[in-house]
Amino acid sequence: MKKIVIALDGYSSCGKSTTAKLVAAALGYAYIDTGAMYRAVTLYFLQHHVSLTNQKEIKEALEHIEIDFHYNPKTGRNEVFLNGLNVEDEIRKMYISNQVSEVSVVPEVRRAMVAQQQKMGRKRGVVMDGRDIGTAVFPDAEVKIFMTADVETRAKRRQDELLEKKQLVNLDEIRENLQKRDHIDSTRKESPLRRAEDAHLLDTSHMTIDEQVEFVMEKVTSNI
Ligand code: C5P
Repeated sequence: MKKIVIALDGYSSCGKSTTAKLVAAALGYAYIDTGAMYRAVTLYFLQHHVSLTNQKEIKEALEHIEIDFHYNPKTGRNEVFLNGLNVEDEIRKMYISNQVSEVSVVPEVRRAMVAQQQKMGRKRGVVMDGRDIGTAVFPDAEVKIFMTADVETRAKRRQDELLEKKQLVNLDEIRENLQKRDHIDSTRKESPLRRAEDAHLLDTSHMTIDEQVEFVMEKVTSNI
């Protein structure tokens, strides 16, 4: 069977990663969470006090950053490693969510991440979720989905996810963070968050995970 690229883009916390993981598992494809990569860069920049206005510092820092994913059979997740260290839990914390969109605006950061993502997907057979997969990373992806959901639903889902990780964050703070990130992500100059012309729109506000997966799988089966 032909191997394809499935691009899942959309707003923060509308179920992209959950859907992507299940679709990847159903097809035996690799799942690549590109948001985790930007989060890992943010963690490194914070740890090393990299100034977002200092091109030289940014360039040097990027040369020292190595990001990869390893499957953890204990958690059943593909976890992200920064320079050999598992940072999966750290990068999901609110202090990273509060900085990641500013870091993701930086053109050098985007170029480095996009190049790495293109390399990871060059053999195809991948499900990639993010903001610019169908528009910038793989404009030739065979299946493109643009996901959205109303902000209250997204904030509640995010709160539940954080609670599962024993992080108690109030709904107002989460909603504000989602709206701020959506705004920065959609208005940045380089590869902003937008729906590719050939992306299928998927509003998950009133959908179960199974229904979301079914929607994507239906588009996939007509392409392989
Ligand atoms: O997907 P997640 O919410 O973890 O992504 C965190 C942030 O990383 C986004 O709000 C966005 O600023 C950035 N991002 C991006 N391009 C991607 C994936 C994520 O700019 N392809």
